[in-house]
Amino acid sequence: MFSSKTDLAAIFALPLGIALVLASTATASPSPAASPDTNAFVPVSFAEEIMPIFERSCVSCHGEPGEDGEIVTEASLDMTTYEGLMAGSEWGSVVEPGDPGESLLLDMVKVGDMPEDGEPLDPAEIEMIEAWITEGAENN
Ligand code: HEC
Repeated sequence: MFSSKTDLAAIFALPLGIALVLASTATASPSPAASPDTNAFVPVSFAEEIMPIFERSCVSCHGEPGEDGEIVTEASLDMTTYEGLMAGSEWGSVVEPGDPGESLLLDMVKVGDMPEDGEPLDPAEIEMIEAWITEGAENN
């Protein structure tokens, strides 16, 4: 009697044990990025996505030395650092964190006023700047 109870317990315990092992491997499986159907939120990175655009199209007039070696900062806007950008121009802020509609910089690249010379920014780049501002314009 006693031993048949134990056998019965073993019959139930085995599949349960397998199920637990499977469940724990499932939760331990690597990054959600590996799975294509997850729509994980990935914030725009200032350092990796925004700064390269500014370096290519803006800093020649906003923070880098010109031909004579003097630093050029048109409108006193220095875009070579996050701090300089957020300090704004001689007329005030050009990026309002969380408020793309109030961000002069975005407005100027959208209408094509900036860059003053050279190729206008790509629509995808403008979208990325807008998303970065909407997400709080962080130094990320
Ligand atoms: C060829 C030089 C040149 C380049 C390149 C350039 N700018 Fe400018 N920028 C200027 C000048 C000159 C002014 C001041 C006159 C004006 O506002 O039009 C200015 C002003 C600005 C202002 C306005 C400041 C204010 O408060 O009115 C913003 C914002 C700005 N630039 C952003 C940018 C961005 C973003 C880029 C790159 C996508 C860029 N600029 C590239 C020359 C340049």
